[in-house]
Amino acid sequence: MPAKILDGKALSETMRKEISIDAAKLQAATGVQPGLAAVLVGENPSSQIYVRNKQKACAQAGFASWLHQLSASTTQSTLLELIAKLNADPAVHGILVQLPLPPQIDESAIVRAVTPTKDVDGFSPENVGLLAAGHARYIPCTPHGVHQILLRNDIPIEGRRVVVVGRSNIVGKPVALLLMQKARGANATVTVCHSQSQDLPAVTREGDIVVVAIGQGQFLKREMVKPGAVVIDVGINRLPDGKLVGDVDYGPVSEIASAITPVPGGIGPMTITMLLYNTLQAARLLSGNKV
Ligand code: GUN
Repeated sequence: MPAKILDGKALSETMRKEISIDAAKLQAATGVQPGLAAVLVGENPSSQIYVRNKQKACAQAGFASWLHQLSASTTQSTLLELIAKLNADPAVHGILVQLPLPPQIDESAIVRAVTPTKDVDGFSPENVGLLAAGHARYIPCTPHGVHQILLRNDIPIEGRRVVVVGRSNIVGKPVALLLMQKARGANATVTVCHSQSQDLPAVTREGDIVVVAIGQGQFLKREMVKPGAVVIDVGINRLPDGKLVGDVDYGPVSEIASAITPVPGGIGPMTITMLLYNTLQAARLLSGNKV
């Protein structure tokens, strides 16, 4: 039987409606409109598309949003000055600096400069630490989207074996932390593997749930998947012919998986939805958590 398609676009629509209702309630009760400032440095075409989609989603949810576009030659000190201004601006609840940054800028210095209560990406050391300790403030958006798509499709996680392919700070590490935590709806047995893992297919075949975030188009092949596994594809890659593909060899894998996320229309829209969720949380937090 072909895999059930886990539709991130449809789930995102539902969740974005819920978020916009909650945002309207917050605004009616406190006058606070959630606001997100996005910072884009340079002309990376994928980053431009992501940031544009984030702006559009903010407008649809009734959030304020600001886009700060800086040239590829921007210095680290100019970017730090902008972040300091956004940190101090009471209308800005969430700050997102789109990664990757140009090579003259030290990414980790920028991530550390965003005040942790406005760090809606959940990338700052304080927020990473809170997630690791089981008291997350902002769960990073893509891992949060992965978790929600599993939960809202009633896919059991507790006690099951999750294999994460990829160990990035944006996806691999935080999704592992999230799914292993001792909490209802998590409690998985998590293995993280990566490009240097020995006999990777043997590792991925152990997964009841396989989360693939390795950044290589069509990397996960059919023979790397246990029949009946749930496959979550976090990748977005463009083939030389222009076709958009994930990190999973979708056609063959969908023949043996029990459920699978498509690309596009799977985790991509969920990431933006969880960014709205975190921005609303930030607005609540910074206005005293009254609503
Ligand atoms: N680049 C790729 N994914 C992300 C993300 O979730 N947040 C930011 N800030 N940059 C990214």
